Amino acid sequence: SKRFYRVDSVAGLDWLDKGETASQENRWVFEISHEAANKVGGIYQVIRSKCGASVEELGDQYVLLGPYKEASARTEVELAEFAYDSPLTATISKLRAKGWKVHPGRWLVDGNPQIILFDIGSASPSLNDYKRELYENTKIGIPQNDVECNDAVIFGFMTAEYIKTFRNILEEEEEEKPLVVAHFHEWLAGIGLVQLRLQNINVATVFTTHATLLGRFLCAGSVDFYNSLDKVNIDEEAGKRGIYHRYCMERTATRLAHTFTTVSEITGVEAEHLLGRKPDVITPNGLNVKKFAALHEFQNLHAQAKEKINEFVRGHFYGHIDFDLNETLYFFTAGRYEFSNKGADLFIEALARLNHYLQASGSKKTIVAFMIFPANTNNFNVESLKGQAVTKALKETVTDIQNKIGKRMYDICLTGRLPDANDMLLKEELVRLKRCIFSSNRATLPPITTHNIVNDIQDPVLNAFRRCKLFNASHDRVKVIFHPEFLSATNPLFGMDYEEFVRGCHLGVFPSYYEPWGYTPAECTVMGIPSVTTNLSGFGCFMAEHISDPMSYGIYIVDRRDIGLEESVKQLAKYLYDFTSLNRRQRIIQRNRTERLSDLLDWKILGSYYRQSRQHALHIVFPEIAEDEDQRGAGRLSYPRPISEPPSAATSRAASPEPGYDSDESVDSEAELEALAIKD
Ligand code: UDP
Ligand code: G6P
Ligand code: GLC
Repeated sequence: SKRFYRVDSVAGLDWLDKGETASQENRWVFEISHEAANKVGGIYQVIRSKCGASVEELGDQYVLLGPYKEASARTEVELAEFAYDSPLTATISKLRAKGWKVHPGRWLVDGNPQIILFDIGSASPSLNDYKRELYENTKIGIPQNDVECNDAVIFGFMTAEYIKTFRNILEEEEEEKPLVVAHFHEWLAGIGLVQLRLQNINVATVFTTHATLLGRFLCAGSVDFYNSLDKVNIDEEAGKRGIYHRYCMERTATRLAHTFTTVSEITGVEAEHLLGRKPDVITPNGLNVKKFAALHEFQNLHAQAKEKINEFVRGHFYGHIDFDLNETLYFFTAGRYEFSNKGADLFIEALARLNHYLQASGSKKTIVAFMIFPANTNNFNVESLKGQAVTKALKETVTDIQNKIGKRMYDICLTGRLPDANDMLLKEELVRLKRCIFSSNRATLPPITTHNIVNDIQDPVLNAFRRCKLFNASHDRVKVIFHPEFLSATNPLFGMDYEEFVRGCHLGVFPSYYEPWGYTPAECTVMGIPSVTTNLSGFGCFMAEHISDPMSYGIYIVDRRDIGLEESVKQLAKYLYDFTSLNRRQRIIQRNRTERLSDLLDWKILGSYYRQSRQHALHIVFPEIAEDEDQRGAGRLSYPRPISEPPSAATSRAASPEPGYDSDESVDSEAELEALAIKD
């Protein structure tokens, strides 16, 4: 399709010239987002992970604009003035003269881009004037008490003023006509675009939406969204939900942009119906893909991170470790807490079925399923903290005794005797061990959540666990743990950040119903962790389009579009069950294949869609500029079916070990493994 340009090769990244060309052309690119250096959800990941590729291409002609949030600015940004003779600095001075607080600096992420943070509070005395102006020009009236929207208006006026002033300064100072592109993300930043267009400022504007306000709301209800898109009475639905003014902000930015983009085809269709504009370009989301020097480093990282999760599990299930951790698989889901949009309902239902299948088939496998969704809590619960303390005490006691035994053994050997095994453990040491073991007895089952949840009775995850009777009983082959907080390295239970946690798991499960893109499964992919996604998620559709047999690459796509809910649950449960039937070798092969897909998601390639959308906008505003020969997207990266059979229990068996091949463990390359699989 015209909107999704294809080329046959991805070679020729010769535009990566650190901004030299842009500088010669006096071309500047601003990217404006509420989530620049401000972590909220997936948009933060878009902006952040793209920085490396953007700076490679544009150098210091690339500038991010975001809101000043003290806490994140302090940790994420190195605040410092730009060069005194830069037009960026001259612009900042003009804005400061208005009494605004504007903080320039560099974002401490790959690429180290220039960023300018706007203190919304410093311009708030003018809020009413801005709102009046906006109303007069667009008839959008913002209610007094909608703080988020008020902030969006101020942020919009500040960023538009910055870009306008900057352009004027450039025009005065430089001979070459300035080619300025302002790329705005999501409705929260949209007013800046609206302002630039209303004032007829000569800059090319791009608007990218990562979702639609109404789509998110309608899906969270019980509407059959995708089959009734063309029937939605937009104004009425937005009005009923009290978001009419927000919807108007979103629609106005969409309509006024020179170039409109969405992050996936599916959101493009949604936008066409709900916002009244078909995207000019689809800009799929990429990641900053880092390749390790050693090919299988990521496999080692998996093993190391898994050991940390094992340690958590030992503590959490203390007194109930009647399952083999070597036969245990870790599944997880994570994201903003939108229970049904993120498919947590489907996941838990499928887990209940999986539990039954595993019991019925007498499987030795145990599944521990983690749900990571931030909810309101009153801290960790005592039982979870105690679990970790109990195992820690046991571990310390064992280490202490072990050291003492070692010393005794050494002393005996020094005398020329062989130590008698029976004398090694002293009676008092046995007593110490007994005491530890006794304190790890408990009458209650291991908790299904790690925190005290404020609204425990109504919490949708806990209620789904209760309804499905997933209580971590001994006979359950599926255990569940709700961690109602994002992970961080300072977390007292896991002591690992989200990325490390993902690496340690076996399968990410994201059966979303509403998911314009869905970074969580994409992040799994580049870490070589298989995942479940759906054909209603932008990512799922993108992968299906580029890979001929996604499942054999560890991308399981649940159908949530063409079949009923019950069928989708069954399909997911079957995928999960099939996954549990893989042996270690097959899992390793699958992880290798998954990781191979990383190239497909690299910004070095997908960044070209951003370039394409900027070119599109520039051509509208400056029709006279030369057509860029390389105005193409990334093209099609085709991933054929892997040479050997897919590693599913049904279609391939484990390879028999070569002589000297140490069981399931020592795996050097996929080629080696696949060769073994073929021989087998
Ligand atoms: N995430 C995180 N910590 C967690 C769980 C999730 O930082 O414990 C991040 C995750 O890495 C991803 C983002 O949250 O980048 C969620 O983005 P996604 O596009 O999946 O969904 P959104 O929240 O934007 O709808
Ligand atoms: C990696 C490591 C192997 C380890 C394996 C565990 O591949 O390199 O040494 O055996 O992970 O895989 P599993 O799927 O059982 O966690
Ligand atoms: C939105 C969507 C999510 C997407 C993210 C980044 O928040 O909900 O699916 O991945 O934006 O585009």
